[in-house]
Amino acid sequence: MKFRIFLVVASCVVSLITGFVISRSGSSTETVGARAKPLIGLSMDTLKEERWQGDRDLFVTRARGLGADVLVQSANSDDTRQISDVQALISRRVDVLVIVPHNGAAMAKAVNMAHDAGIPVLAYDRLITDCDLDLYMTFDNEKVGELQAQFLVNHLLKERTKKIVRIYGAKTDNNALLYKRGQDKVLTPLIKKGEIEVVHEDWTQDWRPENAKKIASAAITKAGANFDAILASNDGTAGGAIQALSEEGLAGKILVTGQDAELSACQRIVNGTQAMTIYKPLSQLAKQAAEAATKMAKRKPVFTLGKIDNKKVEVPSILLGVVVVTKENMMDTVVKDGFHKAADVYRSLPDAQGSR
Ligand code: BGC
Repeated sequence: MKFRIFLVVASCVVSLITGFVISRSGSSTETVGARAKPLIGLSMDTLKEERWQGDRDLFVTRARGLGADVLVQSANSDDTRQISDVQALISRRVDVLVIVPHNGAAMAKAVNMAHDAGIPVLAYDRLITDCDLDLYMTFDNEKVGELQAQFLVNHLLKERTKKIVRIYGAKTDNNALLYKRGQDKVLTPLIKKGEIEVVHEDWTQDWRPENAKKIASAAITKAGANFDAILASNDGTAGGAIQALSEEGLAGKILVTGQDAELSACQRIVNGTQAMTIYKPLSQLAKQAAEAATKMAKRKPVFTLGKIDNKKVEVPSILLGVVVVTKENMMDTVVKDGFHKAADVYRSLPDAQGSR
């Protein structure tokens, strides 16, 4: 199939920020014209975490509302499977592909395959590196890491060296590197000054809570109860870490961070075993991505406000803002926004989940 691409970058000022226009067209344009409804292929890393089920539902609902059909595949954290999912979506002749990569580098192959078939690709939440990606939509991920670390620093005693455990995300996810980079911005100067000591740190394979639990258990074996905080990169890893703390009677005594404002994490926050999470308004991301994907499917331009280097090209990108959530502002953030119901957040937790 002959493949034709054009990328139009136009400079215009939108709220003092440069704007870009993106459009890709290829031989699948004929398919778009022939089909009554645009067809979007959504290839996801996993649906095992609460967060991604929400993303899928919000995305599909908005896309359907716009008159598009969506085919969803989930790869269960397996790169080979995600490549074959993309192959299957290409052979179903989707008009656009939206990919949440398990492995940002490995999925470059999927982008190339899609382009060979004339299909544009939107990377959703996680960047796909080393390829000619068409669009990237996410949150300000470095800021997430900065906010987590700053919260930790602000809430620990100032008068002595603070001992912390760092639980990073999956090394294969570019976001995990960005969270660490944001955290490092805040922590590195304090570590150099001796105000913070990292007693244990590790990466969580596939972001799995059970792997994070093992990291926290290893930290407890190494340092006993002699540390102040666990800088967990998301709510899943925080949940795993808190299970390990619970087993040692330490839940609620050690500050634990998180991200995603998952219901279970919000419950832990109001019960005192997790200190904070980061609320990322998934509805905004999912809806805006569904709108962009529908436009791309119809070969219409999409405006973006920035670019992100993916080691091959400057990818037109849209970054959304994030909010710190604590016990104090729970009602004014996730509840007010309709992300969770107050009755669910404040429902009492069984002891096994670490409630006090
Ligand atoms: C997402 C986080 C999520 C993590 C694990 C990251 O790429 O940005 O929101 O918690 O993956 O799924």
